[in-house]
Amino acid sequence: MTPTSQKPAQRRPRPRRYLMCPPTYFDVRYAINPWMDPTDPPEPTAAQDQWHQLHELLLALGHRVDLVEPVPGLPDMVFAANAATVLDGRVLVANFRHAERGEEAGAYEAWFRAHGFTTVEQARQVNEGQGDHLVAAEVILAGHGFRTHPDSHAQTSAFLRRRLVPLTLVDPRFYHLDTALAAVSHDEIIYYPEAFSPPAQARLAAMFPDALRVDEATAATFALNAISDGHNVILPAAAASLAVPLKARGYQPHFVETGELMKAGGGPKCCVLDLHPEPVAEPAAASAA
Ligand code: ARG
Repeated sequence: MTPTSQKPAQRRPRPRRYLMCPPTYFDVRYAINPWMDPTDPPEPTAAQDQWHQLHELLLALGHRVDLVEPVPGLPDMVFAANAATVLDGRVLVANFRHAERGEEAGAYEAWFRAHGFTTVEQARQVNEGQGDHLVAAEVILAGHGFRTHPDSHAQTSAFLRRRLVPLTLVDPRFYHLDTALAAVSHDEIIYYPEAFSPPAQARLAAMFPDALRVDEATAATFALNAISDGHNVILPAAAASLAVPLKARGYQPHFVETGELMKAGGGPKCCVLDLHPEPVAEPAAASAA
């Protein structure tokens, strides 16, 4: 962890609107990342409890949480973060890398269309939504290397009207950007540098010189799969070592058990799709529509 001389800033929580999918059909029936082992499936009751505790915590923190109907036969649909990237009411629907998850895109797209989102586009190349796209410092940080294909970047940047910073992921355990980097406020991140290629590490160091950097053991707890409203940061219980540095920077950490979700390679942040109810960065040409 990099020491910081920064004074604890005044952190302002911003009410969020999240989309989640109940883990009714959650299971590990195939292996598309190194954490998944179909011979060691999650315990259903414990998994349900962990998901419900996360859901309740988000509500207790004052956030709005919408729910999408889970679909039988889609055991990873609980990981809502991958379904789309949403910004300024614009929805770029995912195009999953693996056929096993392909049908999730249509289920989520139907939800958006039924809930007043009118500017909806499907990703033309492989694109795993907010698993690989995080907004920070007015840009879209875009992970690629395992899931999202860089060929999708032009569409993402044009459709969501933000500059996009490509970041190559190199460690298969951290196959989505949100397993290796968390945007904890509009301009602050925490990350595990070694999950990124040397050029991506250099890019992040230049953009975020004061960022908290975590070591491999901490990253391996999925500590970076954190949900932040700008003040409250929800992390896996196994990432308790981050309590002190987060508090030192003015954040309030909350720890949730996610061991059963981890068996599918997921954590708290994977379970939420941020609908970004208010602008998180200045649109280049803001339209009041
Ligand atoms: N089993 C899922 C997969 O491999 C986990 C997705 C985790 N989601 C995330 N946002 N990192 O696709």
